[in-house]
Amino acid sequence: MGEISGWPVSYNWRRFRGISYNKELFSLQEGTERMSAASIPLPLARAARFYESTIGKKAIMAVTGVIGFGFVIGHLLGNLQFYLGPEALNHYGAKLRELGPLLMAMRGVLLLALVTHIVAAFQLWRQNRKARPSRYVKWQPTKSSFASRTMLISGPILLAFIVYHLMHLTWGTAHPSYEHLPSGTPNVYHNVVAGFSQPVAVIAYIVAMAFLGFHLVHGVWSMFQSIGWNHPKYTPVVKKFAAGITALIFIGNISIPIAVLLGFHQ
Ligand code: HEM
Repeated sequence: MGEISGWPVSYNWRRFRGISYNKELFSLQEGTERMSAASIPLPLARAARFYESTIGKKAIMAVTGVIGFGFVIGHLLGNLQFYLGPEALNHYGAKLRELGPLLMAMRGVLLLALVTHIVAAFQLWRQNRKARPSRYVKWQPTKSSFASRTMLISGPILLAFIVYHLMHLTWGTAHPSYEHLPSGTPNVYHNVVAGFSQPVAVIAYIVAMAFLGFHLVHGVWSMFQSIGWNHPKYTPVVKKFAAGITALIFIGNISIPIAVLLGFHQ
């Protein structure tokens, strides 16, 4: 391993990302290091440098969080067609599949957003742990540590819910009687009714939706904080907006399994 400008090569590579925009320093790169540096386009190096900062990771979390939030609202609006009866819900499911490549692209974006959100959250958590003062100092709970602890608990629970939910209502591997229509598309209405006729499943969904609520209310709030929207006049409005929309999502989502369990279905 050689040395460049007094830095070991491996360390200099980290520095390169920090100085790539500086032509003078850029020209100081030597040997193999210079080759790898020259092969990385400037916008990519800038993006990598931005991502390395705490604010960069928070911005990524905010963008991917908004994608997830948008999906949750769209998914709820689609699911509420349950109340219109079997034909409407199954028609909706079939129409979604007719989107073909567009549906695949939407799934890809959603999966990428989910994975990036988790990776950035983990890296921020690790960074915070490293930056924490000595553990011998008396620990004082703060508002922000309560919020981040809630996210660290609700996040993994939501991930487990998504896997269970896919096995339950998309793949049918954790479902008592998953069915397809003669056309080949899933019999979504039947799958929802049969799936939620089991009280254990209904309880699992209600608990998961409560954690989704915690996650969203803190997520929406911390997203506004990340973009610097912290104002004595608007902050209470943001908090009310986050709480109101989360309550609507919670009620809308749990209403479906509860309605099925109480016998309100065809
Ligand atoms: C009680 C609330 C919910 C109900 C009744 C519900 C219902 C359903 C149903 C019936 C499907 C299968 C649709 C089909 O095959 O056409 C589905 C798929 C899915 N759900 Fe949910 N869902 C609920 C909550 C959620 C939540 C909170 C999330 C995410 C956090 C979520 C994420 C998904 C995903 C990712 C899929 C797969 C979509 C795809 O095929 O691309 N669901 N859900």
